[in-house]
Amino acid sequence: MQEVLKIEGGHKLKGSVRISGSKNATVALIPASILAKTGSVSIYGVPHISDVKYLSQLLESLNVKVDQHAEDHLEIDPSQMVNIALDHPAVTKLRASYYFMGALLGRYKQVNMKMPGGCYLGPRPIDLHLKGFEALGASVEYSQGSYKIYAKELVGAKIYLDISSVGATINIMMAAVYAKGRTTIENAAKEPEIIDVATLLNKMGAQIRGAGTNIITIDGVETLAGCVHEIIPDRIEAGTFIIIAAAAAEEMVIENVIPHHLESLLSKLEEMGVPMKVDIDKVTVKSTEHLKDVDIQTLPYPGFATDLQQPLTPLLTRANGSSSVKETIYVERFKHCLELQRMGANISMAPGLATIHGPSRLYGDTVTATDLRCGASLVVAGLMAEGVTEIRDVYHIDRGYENLDGKLRELGANIWREQVE
Ligand code: EPU
Repeated sequence: MQEVLKIEGGHKLKGSVRISGSKNATVALIPASILAKTGSVSIYGVPHISDVKYLSQLLESLNVKVDQHAEDHLEIDPSQMVNIALDHPAVTKLRASYYFMGALLGRYKQVNMKMPGGCYLGPRPIDLHLKGFEALGASVEYSQGSYKIYAKELVGAKIYLDISSVGATINIMMAAVYAKGRTTIENAAKEPEIIDVATLLNKMGAQIRGAGTNIITIDGVETLAGCVHEIIPDRIEAGTFIIIAAAAAEEMVIENVIPHHLESLLSKLEEMGVPMKVDIDKVTVKSTEHLKDVDIQTLPYPGFATDLQQPLTPLLTRANGSSSVKETIYVERFKHCLELQRMGANISMAPGLATIHGPSRLYGDTVTATDLRCGASLVVAGLMAEGVTEIRDVYHIDRGYENLDGKLRELGANIWREQVE
């Protein structure tokens, strides 16, 4: 038996929805908190998603105390931590377990862990993370699916990233906080989640400057202590709901949003003709049948987020004309298109490029969430489609969206879970 999500399409949504804390910030903030040598780190706005559950299991396997004080408040106390090998099965459940590499290396100058897992989006190497650790003086050994990374001492260095990788930028920041002297990361990624992690580390006592620009400097310190931190809102969840509203809402208010983080999406939706009103911390969106075709190219922040091209694709089936999605971050991130084709979408595919010929109607079918954002894409499609859509492998959605179906039900969607063979 497996749990599936079922959606009866065609219901108009109405009301407001509150966006949760950022998943991709949270999954870095939790490992970052083990860098505290004294005190505990209290994090508010923690989303209720399975990635957090797996990271908590990893913390507990390191003998770190994790207390859930309220639904969204985690207190992490690493004072009794032991640096044992991370070979817990949770390591392979999510990509972000790789943040324990930087955090444990930074704190103990040694880490042993299994190869991290996560959504399959095509090849996802971590060579830049490892090169960064080596530049700080670490040796990296890989055998039988496990990494051993160790150093006598870590010394600040100038590190140029060939690609502005989010994961490598954060991992190097964490490895460098206790390194001797100054580390400079050039061509650093500029995503808002990086600023959030640097903010947490600075509250703990780190000396990190330039997060959010492409040059970050980290001056090594002797000790970091606990602190209190509130996570930024999830720009990808916000973007997903804005797209859902554009697809199916009479009117929806998306609250707890930093619109500045969503500029590339908002300007594309405006170009398509989606009626929207942007306020300081909320966006009001209505759907319309008359949409213009657009061309999207995914790029590092502040460009169009790769995580939002999948949720946007079903909306493009309604546009009058041919829209294109060029994926430059993960060129194989198009599995959702095969599922959308089953539902009636007219999409032609070429390497790294999908062309969506609209307008075309979508019809409910049985489809599979092959990865997290593919799952979100199928939810958008299911809400737009005629008839009932059944989404399998729903655990991918639960990894990164807090209570997606519950939030949609509140807005009037007919969406439910069922156990099927
Ligand atoms: N890359 C390398 N070598 C590396 C690291 C990255 O070649 O050592 C390449 C990747 O293959 C990719 C590009 O660089 O082509 C960018 O990858 P990046 O490292 O920035 O991605 P990531 O840190 O692994 C994070 C998010 C992803 C999001 C990407 C891009 C987390 C946990 N994951 O991944 O989120 O798509 O940045 O913005 O923060 C998602 O939320 O669904 C998701 C997959």
